[in-house]
Amino acid sequence: MNHQYVQSGTVDRKETPQGARVAYSRKLESCLSLDDFELAAKRHLPTPFYQYVSGGTETNQSLRSNRSVFSDFELVPRFMVGVDNVDTSVDLLGHRYSLPFGIAPMGVAALWAYRGDTALASAAAVENIPMMLSGASLIPLEDVRQANQRAWFQMFFPSEDAGIVALTERVRAAGYETLVITVDCPVNGNRENNARAGFSTPVRPSLRLAWQGITHPRWTAGTFLRTLLTHGMPHFENNHAHRGVPLFSASAQRDLSAAAHADWRQIKLVRELWKGKLIVKGLLDPRDAAMAAACGADGIIVSNHGGRQLDGAAAPLRVLPGIVAACPSIPVMLDSGVRRGTDVIKALALGAKFVFVGRPFAYAASVGGREGVLRAIQLLKDEVQRDMALAGRRSVGDIDKSVLYPLRAYSHQV
Ligand SMILES: Cc1cc2nc3c(=O)[nH]c(=O)nc-3n(C[C@H](O)[C@H](O)[C@H](O)COP(=O)(O)O)c2cc1C
Repeated sequence: MNHQYVQSGTVDRKETPQGARVAYSRKLESCLSLDDFELAAKRHLPTPFYQYVSGGTETNQSLRSNRSVFSDFELVPRFMVGVDNVDTSVDLLGHRYSLPFGIAPMGVAALWAYRGDTALASAAAVENIPMMLSGASLIPLEDVRQANQRAWFQMFFPSEDAGIVALTERVRAAGYETLVITVDCPVNGNRENNARAGFSTPVRPSLRLAWQGITHPRWTAGTFLRTLLTHGMPHFENNHAHRGVPLFSASAQRDLSAAAHADWRQIKLVRELWKGKLIVKGLLDPRDAAMAAACGADGIIVSNHGGRQLDGAAAPLRVLPGIVAACPSIPVMLDSGVRRGTDVIKALALGAKFVFVGRPFAYAASVGGREGVLRAIQLLKDEVQRDMALAGRRSVGDIDKSVLYPLRAYSHQV
């Protein structure tokens, strides 16, 4: 199903003939860029939960670099090429998606948004873009698949092979066709901002948290109490083949997938078991990318986890050209820091086949549920379309490095 949108007032483009118009609330209409959702979510969410979503690790060097790296590139547009019918669709892993971006996996979505995973999944289905369900999620993966038959599932490795086999079988039985394995969390990143803000998983009830609930009544009524009343206490549902610990608990310890021992053997094991598409997420070194391809991955995602793991880890855009060169046979995707249509164009120009966006969709789901996510997708879609037209690129296939003016130290890579 396609959507037509109420225009934001500044967009001047032809609308597609199919679909119904969506009228957004005033709050969502007032969001004019992805960054605008953050401010709204900051007000809406209890501080520890906002900090959890927004934060990086330690000095936040990678978090900052993920954004600033896009300014190292400028665009050189072409004109007079007829851009009245820009085509943003992309063939990826056997499916034609409507847009060159999708929704990255994010844990505990049902904490920061009511039925967060389902909201993200169903908005992605409407817009025909991919959405990855996090393994650290609170809604059974079987239920999320009902909301989006094309959702991808993202797995953290359980510690034992038997657990990997059982979870892979559960994902297959639920009907998922694309499995993403995140490899950049061998141990937890040093999220000292979470500790300072009083956030942990499971969430520990405290007076401080109760005060946050009182001072954020919309979240308390609309997400927390509504979830409790309708669905009961959320649990970690998808780290394993079996249900995990409750989200709120004074004493329970999360049975975290202890991935410190993992190596390429586990990827090969899953490759043998999994007949669908297999993606490895979280790579930054061309040697690892080549290894993933050699192990039979159907695609890789260059990512530093949104600056949430190794502080100082390179911004994915910086290492992208080297990885594309090392990994010519499979699609190379990218996430971390993508916020604008021009960011999407720059990543594609540097060789990414596709990009993913994390936090802005979390903020949009927090403040507006499914409609919020649709609004966020619309804004980025409008930007991609407009920016492609302004750059004189009529289709995604027209975007190559010729659209970039190489700057500073990166000129040798372009
Ligand atoms: C709140 C939050 C939770 C996340 N949880 C996961 C996760 O469970 N699995 C995973 O592979 N990546 C996770 N990530 C990383 C994202 O998938 C993605 O790599 C990152 O958010 C992209 O950067 P961006 O937020 O700057 O767009 C999480 C990110 C955020 C913000």
